[in-house]
Amino acid sequence: MSPLHILMVASEAWPWAKTGGLADVVAALPEALARLGHRVTTVLPRYRGVDVAGAASVTRTIAIGSVRHDVDLHVLAVGERQRVVFVDVPALFDRPGIYGLGPGEFDDNAERYAVLAAAALEHATRDRTWPAVDVIHAHDWQAGLAPVLVRTDERYRERFAQAGLVMTIHNLAYQGTFDREVVPRFGLPWSAFRIDTGEFWGRFSFLKAAVTAADLVTTVSPQYARETLTPEFGVGFDGVLGTVGDRYVGILNGIDTDLWDPASDPHLPASFRAGDLAGKLACKRAVLERFNLPVGDDALARPLVAMVSRLVSQKGLGLVLDAADELADLDATWVFVGTGELQYEDGLRALAARYPARIGVHIGFDEPLAHLVEAGADMFLMPSVFEPCGLNQMYSLRYGTVPMVTAVGGLDDTVQPYTARARHANGFKFRDQSVPTLIRTLTQAIRLYHDKDIWVPLMERGMRAEHSWQTSAREYVRVYRRARQLAPVRGSGWRAV
Ligand code: ADP
Ligand code: GLC
Repeated sequence: MSPLHILMVASEAWPWAKTGGLADVVAALPEALARLGHRVTTVLPRYRGVDVAGAASVTRTIAIGSVRHDVDLHVLAVGERQRVVFVDVPALFDRPGIYGLGPGEFDDNAERYAVLAAAALEHATRDRTWPAVDVIHAHDWQAGLAPVLVRTDERYRERFAQAGLVMTIHNLAYQGTFDREVVPRFGLPWSAFRIDTGEFWGRFSFLKAAVTAADLVTTVSPQYARETLTPEFGVGFDGVLGTVGDRYVGILNGIDTDLWDPASDPHLPASFRAGDLAGKLACKRAVLERFNLPVGDDALARPLVAMVSRLVSQKGLGLVLDAADELADLDATWVFVGTGELQYEDGLRALAARYPARIGVHIGFDEPLAHLVEAGADMFLMPSVFEPCGLNQMYSLRYGTVPMVTAVGGLDDTVQPYTARARHANGFKFRDQSVPTLIRTLTQAIRLYHDKDIWVPLMERGMRAEHSWQTSAREYVRVYRRARQLAPVRGSGWRAV
């Protein structure tokens, strides 16, 4: 079958901008697709500090409704079949934060990301150096206007009439909802503001508009796909996702097994692999030193439990803080790395101050430290309230750091819980978000940690498992081909009447 050209649109990608797992996915999926012989153009904002040396640049005027910007597009080749287009509008993107300052949001985010989507389509319309785009793949609400503008804007409707429109939901909690005035301001017809299109409780949702505009909608694990059809996890979208029917599919994220490899990770003081775990102890010592925690034999013998996370309620930090004093009583050492909501940052800082010999906290975003902690910890805690996929549990598995997770979303799909007879167990899993359950699970894990006949096979099973993008990238290719077949029969109900 013929290779495809995919236009990806997203708000972050490693190494240029990262706040969470989206950046890792938007870096690794194009790479995996290129390895399968496809071409990928990834369109990203040029945030402050992004170096575009070596890129070929053009200036285009982006005009949607009353919004108009002269935009520099910097096209950077990444290997033969991949390129990245940076959308350069200093007034919109040259700022000291990605989505806002600290946990806040910039108040012009609707315009910032509308311009991103429009610039992506404009680039793909004008570019003559690569074959025409076969699929437009938008990630999260920030890219949501890409499929919408293909429906509503006559400049793009004809041009992309044969292109499949794929929308991926990485997290339904972020819906890109704005006052309805954005509809005329971005030149959208009122047909984009109906209950079966972008209207959401009287406001305009980029995500809902995108979900209803796309030919196919995906999310990042099969379990989260099922959960989001229920009121409990659907965040108001369960109804609309239900109407998408079998055009809504869950595809489990993979991980970049070159970047996240304990045998070659440059951020570690020593390497290790399944069958040769000695280096892991040096990593543990390095973590303890880095957090000013004791490093004597006692401390090294005690399990080190870690969290590396955005500090938001999704990640179960409320539970962790509720359980804090009981956690500190367990025979374990703790390290937390994260940034996010002030209440959690302050809560963790206070904990470290209260238990300086047992709990280490680093507030900040630090990629090398995230690698070191993955390597040096013995267990990785993810008590998420919901988790679309989660990458950290997969990084943990690969680093022999046994994950301890709630049974939600992608965590449920990737972690098999330990029981005395479970032959495929690779971690610990609990259902209810309660302090007694958390403490009971941790107590069991800490006890088993000291039984190396149980613990080492548990670690090594995770380390040997396959989590690369290979399989998932093929699933995306199937989705892309299906979306292309659906394109010619796309309804025209979005046109202004
Ligand atoms: P989410 O996307 O919801 O934040 P994921 O588990 O999919 O959750 O991905 C989180 C990614 O962000 C991982 O690569 C993790 O290591 C990284 N990360 C989160 N917080 C930090 C931090 N403070 N410093 C470094 N990396 C972080
Ligand atoms: C979101 C989700 C996370 C997922 C990531 C990448 O940030 O919260 O679970 O792994 O996107 O898809």
